[in-house]
Order: sequence, then C-alpha cells, then structure tokens
Amino acid sequence: MLASPKVMMADAQKKGYAVPAFNYYNLDVLFAVLEAAEEEDAPVIVQPYSAYVPFLHHEVLAKASLEAIAQSRTCAYLHLDHATDYELIMRCIGSDYTSVMVDGSALPLDENIALTKSVVKVAKSAGIYTEAELGRIFRVGVDDDQMDDGDETARVEDCVRMVEETGVCSLAPAVGTAHGVYTKPPKINFERIREIRAAVDVPLVLHGGSGTPDEMIREAISCGISKINVGTELKYAWSGAMKEMFNKGEKEPRVCSAYAREQVKEVAKKKLRLFGTSGHHRDIVEQGGLL
Ligand code: 13P
Repeated sequence: MLASPKVMMADAQKKGYAVPAFNYYNLDVLFAVLEAAEEEDAPVIVQPYSAYVPFLHHEVLAKASLEAIAQSRTCAYLHLDHATDYELIMRCIGSDYTSVMVDGSALPLDENIALTKSVVKVAKSAGIYTEAELGRIFRVGVDDDQMDDGDETARVEDCVRMVEETGVCSLAPAVGTAHGVYTKPPKINFERIREIRAAVDVPLVLHGGSGTPDEMIREAISCGISKINVGTELKYAWSGAMKEMFNKGEKEPRVCSAYAREQVKEVAKKKLRLFGTSGHHRDIVEQGGLL
C-alpha cells in the first residue's frame, strides 16, 4: 500500500518511534523488507541508494518498486537515498518516487542550501516529500581517521537555516553515526540530536543504522529521531546467505534467493521491533495516510 511520507513521518514523530528506511539492491531484498513489515504490521520505507538507480535501470526500478509496494499489505513509500545529482533527482520525481533525498553535504553550507532549495521547489509542486543532509556522515573503512573528530557534526544554527530557507520536509543531520558496519562503537552526540529536535520542527533522520548498538538506537529515538536508514546489514545478510548456498553446491537461483530472502527478512524484523515500528501500520491507514 503506497502511503504518504508526511503522514508516516508525522505519526512516528508524534508517537516517538522510528520508521526504518531499508536500502535494497535487488528484488530479493525489496520483497524481504516488505514481507518483514507485513508480518510486523509496520509501516516501512524502501530506498535505493542513488548509485543503484542507473545500475538497475531508472524506470524499471521505479515501476517494479512501486508495484511491489502497491501489492504489499502494509504502508510503504519509495524514497531516493543520497542523491547529489540534480538531474537524477528530477528523473526520479518524474518516475513517481514518493520522496527524494538531496545530499548537498559535501558542498559549502550556502551551496547545500541553494541546491536543496531548488530541489524542494520542484518536489513540493509535484507533491513529493524531501530530505536534506547537513554535516558529514562518514563511511567506515574510508574515513576512519576522521571519525572521532566531532567537528563534522551538524550545527544547530545550520539546521535551523536549512529548514527555514529551503522548506525541506525532513532533515538528516550528522550526529556521529557512519555508513557501514563499525569496527568500534560510534560516538553519537545525543545532546546534539536533542538540541536540533528542539530547534526545528521537521522529522529527523539517522543515517548509518547498521551495527549501531541497540541501546544507542533506543536513545537516539528517545532524543527525537523518526527515520533510521539501514543498508549494510541487509547487504551482508543477503550476500552471506548466497555464499552459504553456493558453498553447499546449490545451483538453482530460486532456492538460493528464497534462503537469502529469509535471512534478510529476519534482520529487517529485528529492526522494526527495535525501532518501535511494529504495529503502527493501522495508525497510518486510520489517519487517511494511504495514497
Ligand atoms: P548503513 O549501511 O550503515 O546501514 O547506512 C545506511 C544509510 O545510512 C543509507 O543512507
């Protein structure tokens, strides 16, 4: 069931839970996360990482994803994750994505705001939800030497400017998490999440959900996080399961895929329970949140 990002995010923000946004790389992972959400009676967000959009053929990916969502028995929407390229974002808006992230975080603040503003203008007129990023969210194994440096954490005043000047619907501030599976626990700045939560009224997004210890996830949600991105853990669950099947000598792709889907589904279900998302599907429907 295709659902409104606005209603879903507002419900999570109001009730103090977070909706997982799962990255997917193929149909196995997409079906697995939708099935996990159905079984948990939970709303869910499915999001291809921008590099996978051309790789999986823009319009094929959009149509297949939207059809899978339409056939699902739970509330879900299609979000474009981490897009830095304006043309790619416009193409995804044209392919009926429900929500897009414009990632101008590598740019100087004024340029990030200008890029975000230009995307929000088009997205709003098309009824599409938006997400922006501020500060720098590191990558495990790539930026390890800089990860203890709190300087890259988003500043409260920049978050206020971003929201006020662009009208963006949701915000992903860097608060100490990183993309990838950690080699040591992240240092999350919970106080900064609370400060940003108090300063802006849009839903807040936490990136780098994979491998973040459960107690940190619970605390981040209690500080005001409403959406949490999870990618690498699903990728590892899928590839680990495939490797297991190949090592056993299994050659039938359907058998390998069925096993991999089950493994991914278990990871997704654990996240839905941890984030407090389970059981909230009906709340979205009752609020008229279906599109
Ligand atoms: P992980 O791969 O660390 O879960 O991060 C996913 C993410 O934040 C995608 O935007």
